Amino acid sequence: MLASVTVRAPAKVNLALAVGPRRDDGYHDLATVFHAVSLYDDLVATPLAPGSGTQIVVEGDQSDEVPVDASNLAAKAVQAMLDYGGSADVSLTIGKGIPVAGGMAGGSADAAAALVAIDALYELGLTREELHAVAATLGSDVPFSLHGGTALGTGTGTELTTAMVRGTYHWVIVLAEGGLSTPQVYRECDRLREGSPVPEPEVPDELMAALRRGDAHALGRALHNDLQPAAMSLRPHLAHVLSVGHEYGALGGLISGSGPTCAFLARDDEHALDLAVAFTASGVCRSVRRAHGPVQGARVVDQRDVA
Ligand code: C5P
Repeated sequence: MLASVTVRAPAKVNLALAVGPRRDDGYHDLATVFHAVSLYDDLVATPLAPGSGTQIVVEGDQSDEVPVDASNLAAKAVQAMLDYGGSADVSLTIGKGIPVAGGMAGGSADAAAALVAIDALYELGLTREELHAVAATLGSDVPFSLHGGTALGTGTGTELTTAMVRGTYHWVIVLAEGGLSTPQVYRECDRLREGSPVPEPEVPDELMAALRRGDAHALGRALHNDLQPAAMSLRPHLAHVLSVGHEYGALGGLISGSGPTCAFLARDDEHALDLAVAFTASGVCRSVRRAHGPVQGARVVDQRDVA
């Protein structure tokens, strides 16, 4: 057993999010393109004395909004690893760099980080497939937080196929005041679509072609999120944020996942800096970050041996 392990896990943006009809189990079949971007949570796992239980400390921006009890997805990940030889007696210190309840899979990143950390800490040697299977029991976005890169997600989002992507994309991430509840946004989506036929979800061909070519302009035009009308219905201000991004010359912009964070695509790093400065000056948002993608999924960045 090691003395500590640090795992870094990325945020995601859904470049496309097509939502099918509500299923009997309450979930929706999706066709989505997940894209991991360079906003990260860092999780440090340290073993505790037998009987101590799982102790969670959350640090950084918005850390007071994250539960530190058994409802934290990272604590659930620790429990899920018991079947594979993990221990519940562990301390997890989570440094938040991903917006909380922002539609960027921050909680899922922490769960994926905890799975990788427990596997490394206790030298369990799970295969990628085994980790993926455990991840899928924890939440729809957790397998992608492990996978990273850019991937097509189907089923509820847990069935992943790596996408062919050329180049790096530069993003401006615009954070809103407060979070949105994912189940509530899906409910609002169902309500808005009530009475109209909902097609089977599909990712636009133009978007996959743009990624294969490394064509940021075409990608900007093809960005699409079926949850966007629902998020805007719950937060009308988001329509204004999106129009400001358009005015400032972003190649495209959309609400990330269930929102309320918005992601704007820039031509390059310099253009991203210009956009970020303009957004900061505009006063339409809580804060602004720059990020690039695709980046790797949850991975060990530091480990300490027992002295
Ligand atoms: O899987 P996860 O716990 O992240 O999902 C949170 C909520 O989002 C679900 O309870 C459900 O309301 C909604 N959801 C959905 N269809 C999906 C994924 C999530 O309806 N494919």
